[in-house]
Amino acid sequence: MENMMPKYQIITFGCQMNEHDSERIAGMLEHCGYIPTDEQNEADIIIINTCCVRETAENKVFGLLGRLGKLKKEKPGLIIGMGGCMSQQEHMGRRIKQRFPYVDIVFGTHNIQTLPDLIARVNDSRQQVIDVWPEAGAINEGVPVKRAGGVRAWVTIMYGCNNFCTYCIVPYVRGRERSRQPEAIIREIEELGRQGYKDITLLGQNVNSYGKDLESNVDFAELLTEVNKIEGIERIRYMTSHPRDFCDKLIKTIARLPKVCEHIHLPVQAGSNHVLKLMNRGYTREDYFSLVGKIRSAVPGVSLTTDIMVGFPGETDADFADTIDLVQKIEFDGAFTFIYNKRRGTPAAKREDQVPEEIKSARIQELIKLQNEITLRKNRGEVGRIMECLVEGPSKTNADLMSARTRTNKIVVFHGERGMVGQMMLLRITGFSLTHLVGEVVLNNF
Ligand code: SAH
Ligand code: SF4
Ligand code: F3S
Repeated sequence: MENMMPKYQIITFGCQMNEHDSERIAGMLEHCGYIPTDEQNEADIIIINTCCVRETAENKVFGLLGRLGKLKKEKPGLIIGMGGCMSQQEHMGRRIKQRFPYVDIVFGTHNIQTLPDLIARVNDSRQQVIDVWPEAGAINEGVPVKRAGGVRAWVTIMYGCNNFCTYCIVPYVRGRERSRQPEAIIREIEELGRQGYKDITLLGQNVNSYGKDLESNVDFAELLTEVNKIEGIERIRYMTSHPRDFCDKLIKTIARLPKVCEHIHLPVQAGSNHVLKLMNRGYTREDYFSLVGKIRSAVPGVSLTTDIMVGFPGETDADFADTIDLVQKIEFDGAFTFIYNKRRGTPAAKREDQVPEEIKSARIQELIKLQNEITLRKNRGEVGRIMECLVEGPSKTNADLMSARTRTNKIVVFHGERGMVGQMMLLRITGFSLTHLVGEVVLNNF
């Protein structure tokens, strides 16, 4: 029977938002009778969920579309669909039509829920269907979600972004901020608790402004308080926090709630006030230092990670020195570092003072070198400690080892058994590298 059923593959680029959207796409495809496959050659439908935050992400998709063109020649019945942020850009439909006429479906971030109809249209007409809604409709709560099984789950609490950082394409492709109703979020997480998920991450481009668009006046701190009560859920995480909107009430709340983990992803982007202003970030380096000080004194042992960009137009050597100085002083546990990349339609792309590539490249190397030293030093500092870890599955790099996560979002690999997945362990840290810690079991399944 299984052999007769059509198969799907989803290829996802970009952030957790997209990962989660892919789970909704999987839910819909399974609802339509498709079953998943890892073998691309066997797939009857391939959906690419795209990202356009930087050019590299887009180039990967163009490369993939080229390769899929060859597959489609061998297998004309294959349906290729492209959704996500790249598709949502105004000029993209036209471009795909010209360059990749064999792509069957192009849909946007605002009409994921129409995918089953679009597939039906392609099956009927065998013609290219491009349907990208320019704006978001009402939040659609009915879409089935097929989550990767396991102990962690993502839950979107809000869509879109209102911040318009001058380098960023996200507000243009994800639309304005829309918060889900708290009841719908709570119901979803209660169900996840019943299904055995223990570690959930609340997702939004700027979770700190959750609820501002709702009539009920519920804010992010109140939402966390409600989620903290849900049975079965042991750990609560959230991304992304915007430094401008991280208020004292929220700091108090995360310090108080036992399930809320001691990890905050707090993108700083730059250490220079001149650049922060040009970026429209809405805070100064002094504000950032003061916020981190408050968080660290309220939440002892908190781990802090960040996003940092180099080479924003107009960034001088002195500006970059300020970024290096901030990174040295804050000592992040980890950082995602990016080279500024022009995004069509954003204000920064129009600036004439773009930084030359070789300067950007020298700056990012210096920044990465510094952050790696800090990450290593911090990881070395964990050796000897006993940490509460949730076992997630076999290690991705060494199948003989198991992989667990600390509350501070660090990965610990250790000798264990597959049956330990989902268990809470005390692990003693015995080793470290840039990417993870090494541990041994002190107490299992407590
Ligand atoms: N909403 C989140 C993250 C959005 S995108 C936030 O505000 O932090 C993730 C990261 O990509 C950003 O934090 C930023 O560092 C980086 N990024 C966004 N646009 C970029 C661009 N045009 N060039 C390089 N990096 C970019
Ligand atoms: Fe982009 Fe800024 Fe919104 Fe983050 S907060 S998604 S960086 S515009
Ligand atoms: Fe990329 Fe869209 Fe996320 S542009 S980073 S997939 S919101």
